[in-house]
Amino acid sequence: MSFEDLHKANEQQLTTVVDQLTKEFEVTPEKLDELVAYFIEQMEKGLAPQENEDKSTNRGLPMIPSYVTGTPNGTEKGTLLAADLGGTNFRTCSVTLNGDHTFSMEQMKSKIPDELLEPTGVTSEMLFSYLARRTQLFMKKYYEADMQAGKEFKLGFTFSYPVDQTSLNSGTLIRWTKGFSIQDTVGADIVELFQGEIDKLGMKNVRIVALTNDTVGTFLSHCYCSDNTDSMTTGEISEPVIGCIFGTGTNGCYKEEISKITKIPQATRDKWADEGKTHMVINTEWGSFDNDLKHLPTTKYDVDIDQKFSSNPGFHLFEKRVSGMYMGEVLRNVLVDLHARGLIFNQYRTAAQLPHRLQTPFELDSEVLSHIEIDDSTGLRETELSLLQSLRLPTSPTERREIQRLVRAISRRSAYLSSVPLAAIIIKTGTLEMRYHGEVEIGCDGSVVEYYPGFRSMIRHALALGPLGAEGERKTHIKIAKDGSGVGSALCALVA
Ligand code: BGC
Repeated sequence: MSFEDLHKANEQQLTTVVDQLTKEFEVTPEKLDELVAYFIEQMEKGLAPQENEDKSTNRGLPMIPSYVTGTPNGTEKGTLLAADLGGTNFRTCSVTLNGDHTFSMEQMKSKIPDELLEPTGVTSEMLFSYLARRTQLFMKKYYEADMQAGKEFKLGFTFSYPVDQTSLNSGTLIRWTKGFSIQDTVGADIVELFQGEIDKLGMKNVRIVALTNDTVGTFLSHCYCSDNTDSMTTGEISEPVIGCIFGTGTNGCYKEEISKITKIPQATRDKWADEGKTHMVINTEWGSFDNDLKHLPTTKYDVDIDQKFSSNPGFHLFEKRVSGMYMGEVLRNVLVDLHARGLIFNQYRTAAQLPHRLQTPFELDSEVLSHIEIDDSTGLRETELSLLQSLRLPTSPTERREIQRLVRAISRRSAYLSSVPLAAIIIKTGTLEMRYHGEVEIGCDGSVVEYYPGFRSMIRHALALGPLGAEGERKTHIKIAKDGSGVGSALCALVA
């Protein structure tokens, strides 16, 4: 056998294994049907009184009442503060709602310091005093005179982690996701923690009046900005139904009939009915869909990521197959495994010799995947540069071709799975059948849905392949709700 033949045989072996892997990442139309049916079942279970009252160990879909009972129509006016702790950044903003579906915003953004993301040794006080100090900086820059004059400021706090909401402005952390692991925050009231640190800095006239999840913020902001609800003026009959995030993490909320949220005591529901309240926004926390892995497709890489590398093993298993924080990590795990099996990067003899960044969990950003996804340059030059730059990893043309196939399989699985909760909510709420010619709008935010090439198209493709079918997909509009969390929490603060 010549050297050429030997190399070809090796390449062929890599291609064969990648063929098998892409098959493992496939989500078939039958699987979509099965997952949507199970999602609806889990939604119903999550709305009913809980068998396991301990929220930190309950493995089902949380389905958290948000205490938001109305939706804005775009005429709301006012200037409010908003703070937003999400995946990797903290923002303080002041939002001016102009009352005509538009808004303007001042904001200050900062990256969460790495030391606050350490697995041990971090306290709630350290985190929330950092947030309060950033808020103080913002207030000094934009509202120094007003602060000195003692003007009252209402603040809406978007906190994008699972919180057991107890009222519009209180709630306790069920567990951290997306990298934080500060133990003493779990079970504590988030508003009390943040307000406490704000007060310590002498900013007593800044009052946190609303606590919202980013999906709820996105939903409200989409309702405020959307000009489609008045069919008489626009000719559109399109109803905002879902607010969701596909970014570092993933989650969604929707409007549910209060009478169906049976885990809320009957007396409370009766009281709300007397006040004319019929619906409440439910934060599904769908990142935790099927934590028992009864139906979710699972590869050995998913198991390793959850058990060996994630900060919340056993939870948020849907998120770990879908969101931006994990897409790159899935690819990294596949590549390390292919190397261990002698199929790729053979210039490195042992795992310890691989470029350090390829050995480091969560170092491969989903942004790199987004470049590889659409690379059509000769010899996949862009992919070559991208991998060199991000991981210091040199690759051969064959390796790059196979890596691109893997990237596309991973992102397709993510997008196809993303369609599952969307289809399930549309079916469960029956919104497509509610009005003659009725159509639905989904307000989305997050880096993946906004920037990952083709992600929205792939979701739509999956919606058509799944139980909604082509007709349902045609009536479903996925819209980007820019700055959802800032505007949404300001809207919440306005009505608080
Ligand atoms: C959190 C959700 C959040 C989502 C998107 C998830 O990890 O549990 O509360 O809405 O990320 O930011």
